[in-house]
Amino acid sequence: MTGAVEAAAALVAGAHSVVVFTGAGMSAESGVPTFRDDLTGLWARFDAERLATPEAFHADPDLVWGWYEWRRSRARRAEPNAGHRAVAALEAAVPGTTVVTQNVDDLHERAGSTAPNHLHGSLFAPRCIGAGAHPAVFPDAEEPQEGRRLAPPRCDACGALVRPGVVWFGEALPEEALRAAVAAAASCDVLLTVGTSGVVYPAAEIPRIAARAGAAVVQVNPDPTPLDAVSTLNLRGTAATILPALVPV
Ligand code: APR
Repeated sequence: MTGAVEAAAALVAGAHSVVVFTGAGMSAESGVPTFRDDLTGLWARFDAERLATPEAFHADPDLVWGWYEWRRSRARRAEPNAGHRAVAALEAAVPGTTVVTQNVDDLHERAGSTAPNHLHGSLFAPRCIGAGAHPAVFPDAEEPQEGRRLAPPRCDACGALVRPGVVWFGEALPEEALRAAVAAAASCDVLLTVGTSGVVYPAAEIPRIAARAGAAVVQVNPDPTPLDAVSTLNLRGTAATILPALVPV
């Protein structure tokens, strides 16, 4: 264990309240590509940030729905990694732990995390685009590896198109989720920021709120990010290799 990892483990062991803030890198070792990884198959010629918008959905619902159903079936096939399991173990070891994630997969939950706060929604909470935003339930389908266009289902209650339950670019984050994340960051002793490039706001503000409030910020990322500057410790490595070493025994 390097000196920096040891120092981070000591910070966590001495903390009363910890925030674990995660991004796409948290699920990379589970085989879920990060958001800024190049797209493959049918979507290879598209930019993820252009696809993940209300405009793209309205312009071509079959393309966007197909993409999210492809991502949903991959997330379903993926398994939580040692990093996800370490986060759940940390929650058990330090009762004042809050998990805040930008990820739309359910790997934190499947690893045992009790109530991760999904700032960007979930692949598993589709709803209709009608005024009622009715939750939609429909059978899971295995999507082909290369992806396909797929017509979104219609809402049983109002007949409107069903959309993925994620937050698209240009859309507001769920108010309560954001309020709770800001409150947790402003009052924690230690914030672990794991596998995020720290460039998408307002989520990227969360580690900065903790730093301004005097918390120790520990970054886990194999590469440098703009969060280096606000981090007390920068641990250059992956979620699955480093996080288990931070769980108090
Ligand atoms: N362990 C830890 N970090 C990793 C790993 C790993 N195994 N693999 C990659 N990373 C790091 C990368 O170095 C990068 O800094 O994870 C980060 C992933 O960055 P992005 O793909 O930008 O994902 P994220 O920060 O979660 O994106 C934020 O942007 O597009 C929106 O809604 C989307 O929630 C997403 C948000």
